[in-house]
Amino acid sequence: CAFSGLAFAKTYVVGTSAGFPPFEYVDENGDVVGFDVDLVKAIGELKGFDVEVKDISFDSLPAALKTGNIDMIAAGMTITTEREKVLDFSQPYWTANQSIIVTEDAQEGLTLLFGDHDIGVQTGTTGDIWVTDNIKEKGILTGKVAHYDTFVLVVSDLINGNLDGVVLDTPVAESYAAQKPVKVVAEIVTGEEYGIAVDEGNTELLDLINEGIDELKANGKMDELITKYFK
Ligand code: ARG
Repeated sequence: CAFSGLAFAKTYVVGTSAGFPPFEYVDENGDVVGFDVDLVKAIGELKGFDVEVKDISFDSLPAALKTGNIDMIAAGMTITTEREKVLDFSQPYWTANQSIIVTEDAQEGLTLLFGDHDIGVQTGTTGDIWVTDNIKEKGILTGKVAHYDTFVLVVSDLINGNLDGVVLDTPVAESYAAQKPVKVVAEIVTGEEYGIAVDEGNTELLDLINEGIDELKANGKMDELITKYFK
């Protein structure tokens, strides 16, 4: 065929939530980039589709999928049984725990989770759910759980002195610690796995994503992406 198949490629809209480096963040040109963005683009290249990235708040991603505003979620989203009731997930592509970050000069570590401390979280994340269910509702933490739309806002409020600590995914905590005056003081072992999500029953797209991940692992491109963002 004289025509490139790509000229007719379908475009899938990928929903993400930037401020989650190195998986998705806004670069100096104002573009949303990162591991997840490269991952879905690489899958698209192999499976014959283009991607358009939409940056929205994390907790509204599932609803955006339902209304058809986006076709898939690539947002470092942990595969949970609760989410599996409404979404279908690809095979896992990453494993992570939760960590606590504090300002560079802070003295406290794990003790932050006890008593009158103010902890920041991103709304709807597994970190939010962990803090709310395990320490806030049980009365272990008596300070407030402050909710934010993005981790950029949580981290700046931590640096501004409005929070005592932030609970977030370990790879992202480490990325912030490398860029901002914050440090990682404790890890909460949750053993979460990230998957790309599609609307329930969208097996056509899910199959392409799963095949794409398999092929990227086999052809070395997955390792290249890991080296690009994590080494
Ligand atoms: N892994 C956590 C979760 O699924 C946090 C994900 C936050 N992602 C983001 N792009 N802000 O809840």
